[in-house]
This record gives sequence, structure tokens and C-alpha cells, in this order.
Amino acid sequence: MRFFICFINFFFSSISPNIHEDDLIVYNDQKKEFEIKKDLTSLIDIENTWHNLKIYIDRNLSDTEKQNFYTTQGIVEDFKYLRHKKNILKNQSFNMLKQWSKKLQTSICQVENFDGENITLKIKQALLIEANRSRSHAYAPYSKFHVGASILTRSGKVYSGCNFENAAYGNTICAERSAIAKAVSEENRGISLQEKQDIVAIAVVLRGGIGSPCGNCRQALYEFNPDMLVIMSDIDGENIIEKPLHELIPYGFGPISFDNAKVE
Ligand code: THU
Repeated sequence: MRFFICFINFFFSSISPNIHEDDLIVYNDQKKEFEIKKDLTSLIDIENTWHNLKIYIDRNLSDTEKQNFYTTQGIVEDFKYLRHKKNILKNQSFNMLKQWSKKLQTSICQVENFDGENITLKIKQALLIEANRSRSHAYAPYSKFHVGASILTRSGKVYSGCNFENAAYGNTICAERSAIAKAVSEENRGISLQEKQDIVAIAVVLRGGIGSPCGNCRQALYEFNPDMLVIMSDIDGENIIEKPLHELIPYGFGPISFDNAKVE
């Protein structure tokens, strides 16, 4: 059975929803993207990324709310009650996003009850959601290709990253390396990261395909733990591939490659 459906069954049997009534989950129809917003005024920044797209909100707005919003947002063409529009996102993804939305508010989050080894379905799900959240921050005006990644460290912390491009194209940083930078700088363990294999998993998400790390990123990740789990997914979680990193970069070059080869 598909990963998400499985997850949702598990999730609903074990956890009750904790989303706040007033939280808004906002979707656009063409890109199937979503954002979580606290209130209507914070929708304004959506204008930057969702030009000329219809926007859907998961509850009905009052007439006054609509009016205020229309005045500030020339781009909004329509509001609809999301639950009647099943083809925007699959129901199970929608429910799942609602469930997790509370956790999406911070950029570094802590996975509860992680023993440092066992990456449960729920943890994988959290990583994918977090990667997807980060993807919405991608700065990719040149490729228009948005990628999100999230890293799980042995301490149970999740660090996410997105790609950010540059007018000098070669300066572009991929989502995976942007997440690595965050993890390394926050965990503050310097070069012992590899020895302790502190990075245990990475999830990579993109739209229209699975988030398969590029060669550069595979190499960058290899530095920290050749055995880490790489979870590659599309944004709906419909196509997911999981592999240990060493299978994605066989005979990889890492810190131990130096051990026997240094000239005295
Ligand atoms: N990109 C990533 O963020 N991760 C990858 O593994 C592949 C490529 C980004 C870099 C660039 O901003 C855009 O996707 C197109 O290559």
C-alpha cells in the first residue's frame, strides 16, 4: 500500500488533530502548492510566488473578510471551500497537512521520542512535510525549479533547507546543501559529525518528479554519513524512493579515503 495512505490510517488511529480552528491552509489550483497561514493579512506575501493563480482556502470567508482581501489582493479570482474540490490535493494529503501544520511554524523542529536509530513512518512523514514547507521558500528565479530538503540528526532535530540561486549561476546552492549548512552550524559538533554519523536521514521533495539529490549533494552528504537514509519524494508523497546514501554514491569518496593515501 502507498506510503501516505498507510501513514494516514496509522496517524488517525493514534493522534487527534491539533490544528487551530483559525489556521488557514491555502492552496493554489495549478501548482497544487499549499501554505499555512495564521490569518488573512499574512496571505499578502503569497502574491510574490503565486501570480495569477486561483487561491483556495480551507474554510469559507465572511463577506467582510473577502472584501478586505480582494482590496489588498488583486490576484485572487475565486474562493472555494476546499473540501468540495477533491482534485486539488488528495484527501489523505490534505488531512495529513492539517495534522502537521502546527509543527510547520518553526524552521528547526524536534522529533519527539526518537531513539537515534529507528526512523518510523511518522518521522519520515514529518521529514517530508518539513522538506515541503521549506520548498515553499525556494529562491529560484532562473530555473523556477523549487526543491526542499530536511535533515534528521541523531538528536532528533530536523533542519530544513531550500535551493537558492544567484545571477552568477554557479553560485546556486541546492536544497540539500542548504539543509546541511543549517544542521552543521546548529549542531556545533564540527568534524565529528561523520565519525558519529549524526545525520541519520534526509528527505528531498520537489514537484513533478522525485527529489533525487544531484551528484554534488550526494558527495556533500557522504561526508557526514554514508549510511544515512535518503527519502526522495514528490510533493504529494505518491512516489517515494528510500535508499541508503551509499547506494546512491557507490565507492564514494569520504574522510576515510585520506587515511591510507596521504603522502608524509
Ligand atoms: N537543485 C536542488 O536544490 N537539489 C538537487 O539535488 C538538484 C538541483 C536545484 C538547484 C537549482 O536551483 C535548481 O534545482 C535547478 O538545478
